[in-house]
Amino acid sequence: MFKMRGSSILCCLAASASVSATLATAAGNANSLAQFALQKVLQDGRDVFGEYTAASTSSSSSNASEPRFANWMAALPDSTLLSHVNIPGTHDQATWNYTQATQDFLRNATRCDGTTAYPAPVYRCQRESIAQALDKGIRFFDLRFAADPLGQRLVFWHSAALVSATASVGDVLYGVWDWLSRHGSETVLLSFQHEVGTVANATFDARVQGLMREALTGPAAEAFVWQGRGYVPTLAETRGKVVLVRRFDMDDDNDAGDGKGELPGLHMSPNKWNVNDTNGFALVFNETTNATAYIEDYYEPDVLGENSTVVSNIDAKMVAVKANLEKAASGEDPDSLFITFASAEHDSNIPPVVPETMALGNGTEVTPDGGVNHQLVSVLKGYRGKRLGVVVLDFFDEPEDLVALVLGDQV
Ligand SMILES: *[C@@H]1O[C@H](CO)[C@@H](O)[C@H](O)[C@H]1NC(C)=O
Ligand SMILES: *[C@@H]1O[C@H](CO)[C@@H](O)[C@H](O)[C@H]1NC(C)=O
Ligand SMILES: *[C@@H]1O[C@H](CO)[C@@H](O)[C@H](O)[C@H]1NC(C)=O
Ligand SMILES: *[C@@H]1O[C@H](CO)[C@@H](O)[C@H](O)[C@H]1NC(C)=O
Ligand SMILES: *[C@@H]1O[C@H](CO)[C@@H](O)[C@H](O)[C@H]1NC(C)=O
Ligand SMILES: *[C@@H]1O[C@H](CO)[C@@H](O)[C@H](O)[C@H]1NC(C)=O
Ligand SMILES: *[C@@H]1O[C@H](CO)[C@@H](O)[C@H](O)[C@H]1NC(C)=O
Ligand SMILES: *[C@@H]1O[C@H](CO)[C@@H](O)[C@H](O)[C@H]1NC(C)=O
Ligand SMILES: *[C@@H]1O[C@H](CO)[C@@H](O)[C@H](O)[C@H]1NC(C)=O
Repeated sequence: MFKMRGSSILCCLAASASVSATLATAAGNANSLAQFALQKVLQDGRDVFGEYTAASTSSSSSNASEPRFANWMAALPDSTLLSHVNIPGTHDQATWNYTQATQDFLRNATRCDGTTAYPAPVYRCQRESIAQALDKGIRFFDLRFAADPLGQRLVFWHSAALVSATASVGDVLYGVWDWLSRHGSETVLLSFQHEVGTVANATFDARVQGLMREALTGPAAEAFVWQGRGYVPTLAETRGKVVLVRRFDMDDDNDAGDGKGELPGLHMSPNKWNVNDTNGFALVFNETTNATAYIEDYYEPDVLGENSTVVSNIDAKMVAVKANLEKAASGEDPDSLFITFASAEHDSNIPPVVPETMALGNGTEVTPDGGVNHQLVSVLKGYRGKRLGVVVLDFFDEPEDLVALVLGDQV
């Protein structure tokens, strides 16, 4: 009797709940409190992590209906260094649902400090969720966080935009861990940056650091976050796990020491990150071994002045992107990590070049060759078979073959 009642409740949920498939397919007893608790956490994180589709949850019994790149790393040998893998990445995936409706809805929560936000397109960098991006092969995510206005929780915050009043960093981590638990061959690099935000003069003080430490430590984090630090690992070490790319400093950091007791992963200090460098830069993330990442993150070509054409902005970004990809493809410093950001904007330009315009052009004869993403197609084709490293995209889903071109012959 009890059993029947239990299963009919489950049927009911399966028909209505958006993340119902998780209930039915996640490991263990689908009817357990643990499963309901997980479902609640995933629901809380939904604004940012997104929802599971049938395709992304059907993998427990068969891989047949999984999207083409849902398990692409399974094809690579265990001994592969992560720096030898060409990895499609995204910039600010958390903003995927940041439409004008979302901004209007969150306006009062966002404006606790009286900040005036620009229109939504200034902040929006994607249109597919983290869950969808994972299924489509994305394995590097550049994510931005801040403490909420009461300093209680860590939320996703991009520049001056609150992305969700519900989803915390911890909730979204559970989304990624849940996905990894069903895609055990895959490794996901999560880059976290503290973005000064929700209240005036916010800093990454001991309290906020404590919240981040809480999110990134504990039994679940130990199971799903690579616990090594300061070197580029192999896939054998990181399958089924997150590799933390830490774009924030903690008070106890000591890059010249052994790192014991510090957060795991690759510490890419904001002090070493050459903001908006046109030429790309080398970032030493372990001062003992000189382990280095070569990064291009020229995100704002404002040297062009405020009246520059859309095309000249796209061209300026392409020069920087091509230079870093060329360096990666040349094979120089073969074991080092390369990260090339194809994402950028020039919002203060007239007309504004918002992230979507930079990535996709403006859809008219104003940008006859499209945006950075369209122009990347021929560039990537030219580097087929070469090392590229991580390529970080805005609006990664267009053109459709962009992710496949970054993956190249690996899959
Ligand atoms: C799905 O396929 C991948 C790669 O072929 C494999 O490693 C993984 O175990 C499969 N997952 C399931 C649930 O069968
Ligand atoms: C996306 O944003 C709209 C408008 O704010 C909201 O109604 C909807 O629930 C959001 N969807 C998700 C999955 O967060
Ligand atoms: C924001 O606050 C104003 C003033 O209190 C109120 O009129 C408005 O309905 C609120 N907006 C939302 C989306 O709750
Ligand atoms: C923020 O810092 C600025 C510059 O130090 C100062 O003028 C301002 O009063 C501060 N605002 C708040 C709310 O503390
Ligand atoms: C630097 O790399 C060495 C060798 O891999 C490692 O033992 C050490 O913990 C790393 N240091 C830091 C601060 O990560
Ligand atoms: C972006 O880079 C240009 C050129 O280096 C510089 O003039 C400008 O101030 C930078 N913008 C920001 C926000 O750093
Ligand atoms: C790291 O670089 C510094 C400065 O270039 C150099 O003095 C040191 O010998 C290097 N250490 C290693 C382990 O390569
Ligand atoms: C840009 O154009 C506007 C309107 O024509 C003009 O007022 C402004 O001075 C120009 N800015 C620069 C830097 O030339
Ligand atoms: C494209 O750019 C032109 C020139 O600035 C502008 O007039 C037009 O509104 C833009 N179109 C779109 C769809 O953004």
